[in-house]
Amino acid sequence: MTDQGFPAEEIDTSRPHPARMYDYFLGGRDNYEVDREAAHRVLEVVPDVVDGARANREFLRRAVRYLAHSGIRQIIDIGTGIPTSPNTHEIAHEVSRDVRVAYIDNDPIVARHADARLLGTGNTGFFLGDMRDPSSILEHPTIDRLIDVKEPIALLLVSVLHFVPDDEDPAGMIAAYRDALPAGSLLVLSHATADFHQDVAADVLEVYKKATASLTARTHAEVLALFDGFELVEPGLVQVPLWRPDGPAPSEEYLRKVGVYGGIGRLAGAEGTA
Ligand SMILES: C[S@@+](CC[C@H](N)C(=O)[O-])C[C@H]1O[C@@H](n2cnc3c(N)ncnc32)[C@H](O)[C@@H]1O
Repeated sequence: MTDQGFPAEEIDTSRPHPARMYDYFLGGRDNYEVDREAAHRVLEVVPDVVDGARANREFLRRAVRYLAHSGIRQIIDIGTGIPTSPNTHEIAHEVSRDVRVAYIDNDPIVARHADARLLGTGNTGFFLGDMRDPSSILEHPTIDRLIDVKEPIALLLVSVLHFVPDDEDPAGMIAAYRDALPAGSLLVLSHATADFHQDVAADVLEVYKKATASLTARTHAEVLALFDGFELVEPGLVQVPLWRPDGPAPSEEYLRKVGVYGGIGRLAGAEGTA
């Protein structure tokens, strides 16, 4: 048994897992042969996936700093991924040690690494959960311990919604979370798109079909619609390197490689610092 109370043999090494493929794209070591083979099939058709994964991680870093500087002191990070330094709480704690983070993922491999790399500060928690079941997430004892539903909350759905196909109603799922959040809460969302890789998109989606979760790439308009009920903060929904870059402006050549949109939306009703 692992510390999160599930049998270690639940870690399935017979099929590629998106969390472990993403870990491989980021240069991590928490992946298996089956993941590396699938990752290489993706890289053969879109080597740019590595740029997209890194750019997404950089977006996460800038977005979490923005949250902490905006006064957010509690974060629900769904689709945490295999811990990758700096993790959400480490980024937030550079701004304020008071930020509490509840991490959730549905992949046992993330749970296996959570103890050592996500927990231990007292104001973080991790549990295995499926984002497609909002009430089981929102009513979990770890949320109860860490999150005060009367204070603004940041909900992170970073690079995870493309694992929810249209027929599972991602918009309805987000609405269920939105309706449980107090005014002034923020939604941080990033999402894979094929807008810049139209010619090879079908091949990539084919690789993911054989993984434990298939991938649904969405257009800018489709991702924008997922912010229903939220007001986007500047600069809106953009390719992730364009979201408040803290270095030189990204080049056109680099932007053509990054098939990931990102943005932050605020629930109306409270003043913010956007
Ligand atoms: C590409 S990784 C993103 C990790 C991290 N959020 C980031 O952006 O660096 C996607 C993560 O979402 C998780 N995931 C996929 N479907 C999920 C679901 N239905 N519920 C919870 N987590 C899910 C995967 O296990 C994986 O760890």
